[in-house]
Amino acid sequence: MADIEATDAFCHSSQKPGMSSTEVLRFYDNWAEKYDKDLLDLNYNGPRQCAEALAEVLSGNKAARILDVAAGTGQCAMELIKLGYTNLDAIDGSQGMLDIAQSRNLYHRYICDFLGPRRLDIQDDHYDAIACCGAFSQGHMKDDCFPELIRIVKPGGLICIAMREEFLRTVEAYKDKLEPAMTTLEDKGSWEQVARDIVPKYYRDKDGVIFIYRVLA
Ligand SMILES: C[S@@+](CC[C@H](N)C(=O)[O-])C[C@H]1O[C@@H](n2cnc3c(N)ncnc32)[C@H](O)[C@@H]1O
Repeated sequence: MADIEATDAFCHSSQKPGMSSTEVLRFYDNWAEKYDKDLLDLNYNGPRQCAEALAEVLSGNKAARILDVAAGTGQCAMELIKLGYTNLDAIDGSQGMLDIAQSRNLYHRYICDFLGPRRLDIQDDHYDAIACCGAFSQGHMKDDCFPELIRIVKPGGLICIAMREEFLRTVEAYKDKLEPAMTTLEDKGSWEQVARDIVPKYYRDKDGVIFIYRVLA
């Protein structure tokens, strides 16, 4: 038990208030080799829950071209592959995390880039769907990446975002900001909400929230 609490504390040190994006990404570079073992010990169910939620709305389109955003070591991809979805690309800001994913041969394309407001090296309307799990957390991705995610997904395509529910209130960058930003994009006609579901035991005994949006523009 003491070991698990120590692992949990280490995991939370990737989310310390005041960490810069560069510090967060370097933290993951150094953690990459041990990440999967630690998250298994911590009963992290987010990747499976994210993959299942996306599969449900993809309604059996197994050829769907999916971008795993903040893919890390590929945990979400491993779950998507179990469900029959194999047309996968990965993007993450940590080369160390992507190296682990690449050693598993999970994706067609491995893109090491920062997700934010800056344009990515991906053409417009390229993907049928995005899976994004565990990327919204202290010092991680912010709502400024949403327009870029919408740009690279086809009209009618889906964006699935899974995160710890409490972060909507406890992370300063998200409190009264993340969901209002989602709503602003909905009001502008960029996407529409398909689902907002609370899932139990997303991480240890903590609930997750899974948002699914359909891209309109
Ligand atoms: C908790 S891990 C989640 C990885 C994987 N999706 C999973 O669920 O196991 C968060 C990942 O987000 C990446 N990340 C965080 N902020 C990012 C940003 N702004 N741009 C690109 N990658 C980012 C980190 O490098 C890390 O691999």
